[in-house]
Amino acid sequence: MLNKVGHLNSLAGEPGAWNRSGVDAQPQNVLKDLASDREGMQIDERLTFLNEMQLPAVITAIHGEPLVELLAARREPLAAILRHYGAILFRGFGLRTAEEFQAAAAECFGDVLRPYVGGISPRAKVTAGVYESTRFPNYLRIPQHNEMSYLPDSPRTLAFFCEVAPGNGGETPLADSRIVYERIPADIRERFEQAGIRYSRYLYGPRWNPLNRLFNLISELHTSWMEAFATGDRAVVERVCADQGGSVHWDWEQGARITNDLPPARLHPQTGEKVWFNQAASFLATPQSTGLPRWLLYTAAHPFPHRRPFHATLANGDPISHSQVSRINAAIESATVRFPWQRGDFLLVDNYLVSHGRMPFKGDRRILVAMR
Ligand SMILES: [Fe+2]
Repeated sequence: MLNKVGHLNSLAGEPGAWNRSGVDAQPQNVLKDLASDREGMQIDERLTFLNEMQLPAVITAIHGEPLVELLAARREPLAAILRHYGAILFRGFGLRTAEEFQAAAAECFGDVLRPYVGGISPRAKVTAGVYESTRFPNYLRIPQHNEMSYLPDSPRTLAFFCEVAPGNGGETPLADSRIVYERIPADIRERFEQAGIRYSRYLYGPRWNPLNRLFNLISELHTSWMEAFATGDRAVVERVCADQGGSVHWDWEQGARITNDLPPARLHPQTGEKVWFNQAASFLATPQSTGLPRWLLYTAAHPFPHRRPFHATLANGDPISHSQVSRINAAIESATVRFPWQRGDFLLVDNYLVSHGRMPFKGDRRILVAMR
């Protein structure tokens, strides 16, 4: 299969090539030998695109066809499309409930829905293996990240479901991590790849002091280790963290500071493509990324970096500068696309190939997520 980045680069010199949609915009012979569907079309002939980045590929329902039926009948070609484009948006299939979403996700993931254990986001479980997207305040933009890239065993695939479409903002931006890797300034890429990244997460404990509780009521950023690991037993937390290649340091308030050292880039487990796969920039607030007033509030509320909900340095302890974060964010932004959610949308994302985030929003928004 043709590499997508190479394909995009080869198209770059062709005037108008970015605007093509449908099968003409795809590399020919990439997805051949696919069984035709109920309309006599091959599944790749049904692909359309919302933007010139071809992210995500879109498949629209024909005459009320059930999504689960399509996913079951076209498992292999859909997996090939996902590996090539990085994300597939299924639109118009009439998904309405968390249970219908769970059934579709289970069909994709072979019934293995990953529990969200040890994650940093405050988020609620909706039904088995299905979670609401993070409860971070709606006025904040959640920076691009590959889900749980602060762990060695990160999810491979994510499924999102739009139960309630936001009226204003609230998009889930996507960025191709292969393109981001190529666009990260060479000096940063080399430095980071040489040193590695040290992630630090602070999860509060049962003795958290009232002042910190007050800060958290305002900022809504922290979660407790009891909630994150669904246990009150410190030994369980230590065991899970050790299994995930990390270590736990307990403080006098019984809070857990968890650290993991990981490389900034990884190879895709199936395609071997190199991807920028880390959350260093999203773990570090800067005046540029949050705006000066919010950054001042954040650093005043959390003066000690090791007590911030998330923090990152290079693995040798060297700090990552605001300038480096800004240059990384600029590279990511240059590869980022956004599209408005529609009710019933089902979005599959290869977590290695594509990072996601969340734009600020107003009003209602309910996006559910499942992982494998
Ligand atoms: Fe996420």
